[in-house]
Amino acid sequence: MRCRRSLKPRSTIHGKGGNGSAHIATEPFPSTSISQCGWVSQRWLAIAGITWSTTPPSVGGPTDRAEGSDLLRPQGSRDNGPSLRGPPQHLRCVGLAFGSKTDAGASPLAYSHIRPDASPDRCNGSAVPCARATPRADPRPHLCRSPPERGDPGSSAASLDPSTAIGGPWRLHISHIRIKSYVIMRIAFADMFSGAGLFSAGAVRAGMTPAFAIDLSKDAIASYNRNVAPVGVVGSVDEPRDLPQIDVLLAGPPCQGFSTLGRQDPLDERNALALAVPAWAERTGASVVIVENVPPFLRSTRWVELKAAFELQGYTVDAWELEAADHGAAQFRRRSFTIASRIGAIARPEPSDAAHRTAGQVLAMPIADHDSMHVWPIPKGIAADRIALVPPKGDKRDIMRKAPHLCPPSWTKVGCQATDVWGRIDPDKPANTLRCTFQNPSKGRYLHPTEDRTLSLREGARLQGVPEDWSFVGRPYPVARQIGNGVPVPLAEAVCRTVVEAIRTQGFRAAA
Ligand SMILES: C[S@@+](CC[C@H](N)C(=O)[O-])C[C@H]1O[C@@H](n2cnc3c(N)ncnc32)[C@H](O)[C@@H]1O
Repeated sequence: MRCRRSLKPRSTIHGKGGNGSAHIATEPFPSTSISQCGWVSQRWLAIAGITWSTTPPSVGGPTDRAEGSDLLRPQGSRDNGPSLRGPPQHLRCVGLAFGSKTDAGASPLAYSHIRPDASPDRCNGSAVPCARATPRADPRPHLCRSPPERGDPGSSAASLDPSTAIGGPWRLHISHIRIKSYVIMRIAFADMFSGAGLFSAGAVRAGMTPAFAIDLSKDAIASYNRNVAPVGVVGSVDEPRDLPQIDVLLAGPPCQGFSTLGRQDPLDERNALALAVPAWAERTGASVVIVENVPPFLRSTRWVELKAAFELQGYTVDAWELEAADHGAAQFRRRSFTIASRIGAIARPEPSDAAHRTAGQVLAMPIADHDSMHVWPIPKGIAADRIALVPPKGDKRDIMRKAPHLCPPSWTKVGCQATDVWGRIDPDKPANTLRCTFQNPSKGRYLHPTEDRTLSLREGARLQGVPEDWSFVGRPYPVARQIGNGVPVPLAEAVCRTVVEAIRTQGFRAAA
């Protein structure tokens, strides 16, 4: 069966359902290299971020092979055809035809399921399961939750006779999928307190699309717009402004008032900033909100107030403490994540099975020629003398032992026993938590493992999992702040992936 109907792009739909908003852009089936409504190969679906279960037909070879994968080339080839650039997108099929065979190979086009007029949710979940599908012998669960009924108004009755078309039981080998049109489900997000965008970088890696970001710092927003996407604005979250409708709201409010490295001052004015988040959630229609902070935040009265505000708005609230080193960062950094959801429970990300990445691994990677971020303050005078005395893995105690005259009396005072300061990073472990002051050796274990210097900005960025092609805007100290303030990108990605997964399986249906 060939479809000749021209498929024009539909307009962009911003749907809003009972459980939140969906950012839905309907696009035509790409037709640059195939006739309208051609067959789509698995390879193309893979490019689009969809894995599809398939078993090679036992008899005769794939149906309509001539219209198959050869016509659809992966990205980067000369004729890209339906190339989808950027992060994997979620597709929800509007009209589908499955080219398949029965086990017996009896029917070349075993089953056609075309719903040209279908709204996304009438596709019966066909795209939702396939997006998370792992190869299985029986593809039935990936098709539709239940076979379409005869006479179903959205279906072609002739092709839906289960007795002739599919031969009773659903034992299909899917070889190709024909898509008449599809809907790209973009998971749009906004980032409050975006900083330079490390949290956002994780969200983008997880498959979300940035729609808006805001931060007080001009330099941080310039970095955001350069490295993440040009959607950042300089401003305060408590100023009135128009906000886009989005699916996910990220927020990493200042943590100084809660951090054990700060004064943990309950009266710190910045603590109240977290309470701006629920109002933003309401105004943006976010289905899921992720608030990142230091772990003590979860035990503060602010958190209790935040949770209550979310619950009043119909969100269910969960909270996790996660270790960045367990999720691929070469740094020990525990962080809390408060997840407010209107789409049901979100699974906590599981620690990776892989061994921890060590600081030595990321610091040993070659530095690009002329990398403007491979800079550090040149130690001078007494600082240079102290650093020269610190052996591999050593710290202030070595200086005290070897050269007491270089040590101020405060180093021996009771209550001033921090041993990690003036310490060299242990290359065999993840680094200690990076602070904004990581280029000051008196603030922690931030000396290079072997060289007589602190970490460079690039090396600090690597410990935070920042992509190598990022360059930050600003003078060195503000850049170190942007780096040290951020959520390690691999940790942000792990958290955002589980949210993306939940939206794909639970959220789109609610929102369509
Ligand atoms: C912990 S950092 C966020 C880091 C960011 N989430 C990241 O991963 O890169 C907190 C940020 O909040 C910003 N900030 C503080 N007060 C603000 C306000 N009233 N409105 C907007 N941003 C603010 C600071 O400039 C800082 O960049």
